[in-house]
Amino acid sequence: MAEPIRVVVTGAAGQIAYSLLYMIARGEVFGKDQPLILHLLDIPPMVGVLEGVVMELADCALPLLRQVVPTTDPLVGFKDVSAAFLVGAMPRKEGMERKDLLSANVKIFKVQGEALDKVAKKEVKVLVVGNPANTNAFVCANYAPSIPRENFSAMTRLDQNRASAQIATKMGVPITSVNNIIIWGNHSSTQYPDAGQGKVLVNGQWKSIVEAVGDNAFLEGAFVETVQKRGAAVIAARKMSSAMSAAKAACDHMHDWWNGTAPGQFVSMGVFSDGSYGSPKDVIFSFPVEIKNKQWKIVGNLPISDFAKSKLILTGNELQEEKNEALSVLDSN
Ligand code: NAI
Repeated sequence: MAEPIRVVVTGAAGQIAYSLLYMIARGEVFGKDQPLILHLLDIPPMVGVLEGVVMELADCALPLLRQVVPTTDPLVGFKDVSAAFLVGAMPRKEGMERKDLLSANVKIFKVQGEALDKVAKKEVKVLVVGNPANTNAFVCANYAPSIPRENFSAMTRLDQNRASAQIATKMGVPITSVNNIIIWGNHSSTQYPDAGQGKVLVNGQWKSIVEAVGDNAFLEGAFVETVQKRGAAVIAARKMSSAMSAAKAACDHMHDWWNGTAPGQFVSMGVFSDGSYGSPKDVIFSFPVEIKNKQWKIVGNLPISDFAKSKLILTGNELQEEKNEALSVLDSN
């Protein structure tokens, strides 16, 4: 058996973490033969809840789980970690302006970036789930200059999974028969779910989704809107935000980063933009990526329709604005 690796989940007393911790500890992300030490980071008012989570993890009797470290101290939480799931964030409360939300989160991700910089392994892979995920990842990376920028990412995998599920349902095929759907830009309602490069397995043959669906009005209309508004639809139905599906998506994201993507297939991740596809540089923008040896690479030269281009500009502008607002909050502190 391999040596255990340390993995941190922040927001460990929250609802996404409740599903996520179990999935990680079962070996869904790092493999069935990779022992784990789980670090659980939350804030002082949640210590009691955290104790309950620790008890339940013990009671799960999970073979791969060697130790659990609950803490409210980022310097303990991030110590020697190889992978970090940054789920904890300040939620939007009634009457809260976007700027207030951003400002509260900028402070959290500054502290966490600084702690990662000081005590995490330099090769740590950081996945930011807590919203606004893209800008939080940007802030976190900025405060961890000793860790390569490529090691910071934001989650758009839930959007990708939602989009793939919509196409699978439309075509009446299993989810494994759909791939290469792209989420471009911000994890917000300006994201652009793009089925233009996607493939679907029909009657034993991989076909372009555009051809197989044969309904551009759907692909540019109801499909995009359903994915963009899916989070709100779940909240309206469940009275709580997506948690099980968010946890599964976080596992998928880190799993593929750790283990690589299959030849010819790509996944979407929010990563530092190099300006590809006309996106603004140096924001965390969701692109299609291929992954090998734990390194992602933006898939280049995909043909982009004029419709897609206009959507990419919209979401890119929003990310640029968020980044500027985050920087102004940091400057004023
Ligand atoms: P939750 O409110 O149930 O849990 C959040 C936890 O984070 C709480 O236990 C809270 O105490 C903790 N927390 C707050 N500040 C912290 C800090 N500074 N350090 C450590 N822990 C801290 O929320 P839930 O449902 O688990 O969602 C977590 C985040 O994930 C939210 O920001 C939500 O908007 C976001 N989200 C992102 C998705 C994506 O696709 N990127 C999808 C779904 C949710």
